[in-house]
Amino acid sequence: MEILRTVAELREWSRQKRKASGGAVGPVVGLVPTMGALHGGHVSLVRASRASCGFTALSLFVNPTQFGPKEDFARYPRAFAADCALAESEGVSVLFAPSVEEMYPAGAATFVDAGDLGSRLDGQSRPGHFRGVATVVAKLLIAAEPDRAFFGQKDAAQVAVVRRMARDLRLATEIVVCPIVRDADGLALSSRNAYLSSEERAQALTLSRSIRRVEELAAEGERRASVLIAAAREVLSSAPAVRVDYIAVVDWATLEPVEVAAPETLFAVAAWVGATRLIDNAVLQ
Ligand code: PAF
Repeated sequence: MEILRTVAELREWSRQKRKASGGAVGPVVGLVPTMGALHGGHVSLVRASRASCGFTALSLFVNPTQFGPKEDFARYPRAFAADCALAESEGVSVLFAPSVEEMYPAGAATFVDAGDLGSRLDGQSRPGHFRGVATVVAKLLIAAEPDRAFFGQKDAAQVAVVRRMARDLRLATEIVVCPIVRDADGLALSSRNAYLSSEERAQALTLSRSIRRVEELAAEGERRASVLIAAAREVLSSAPAVRVDYIAVVDWATLEPVEVAAPETLFAVAAWVGATRLIDNAVLQ
């Protein structure tokens, strides 16, 4: 597995692979954007990419512009050696690990504004977060020119922002969304789970339990957003260390609240468990 550090190297690698494929039918280059501290969720994205693309690039970049001034940029888990070993064992072709200066050259002043989507759900409690995400993902897609880029449904609002950005900028990359991967006890995998004490981790299970409860109600035919939200709130309130940030029933494309759930409606929760902010969701069928 090659490790690339510059945008020029990544672009050259991608173009070479495309050229060498001689116009083969089907996707040649897949990109899995990550911030590292890789876990089973990232592995599922790599596997999805490898299943449909000739070559998979994995980017590993803790993007400073998507963290607020009081957020966890400095202490975000970094595990470069372990990430390289895992990526290599999963058959990643290249790992792109740029410096901050490479992604944001001195004086960089151009950003991608996520519009209204940028201030909904996580964007409401984390102002500027989706501007940072849209900017770095646009940079990665422009650099790697992948046929497909793979994102996890766990970050469902991010998915909405990235889909809209790729559409609005008329990027050629297809955005592929892969299902949430959970631990055996139901907790959605996240690099931030590493922050949880064992007591907090036990209480964090109320997030996935609230999602399961809502899915059960939806399966029984309940469609009223107010009822689904109340049911999730009841589950979450059983854990004293859990402080709800939002519980939302929204259209997945616009992130606007809906009163009555329809197919493809997103049910999403965000909550603080101690000092750690976690998210979880389900797309209601
Ligand atoms: O989901 C993430 O890990 C990040 O938000 C992403 C998409 C890699 C952009 O930094």
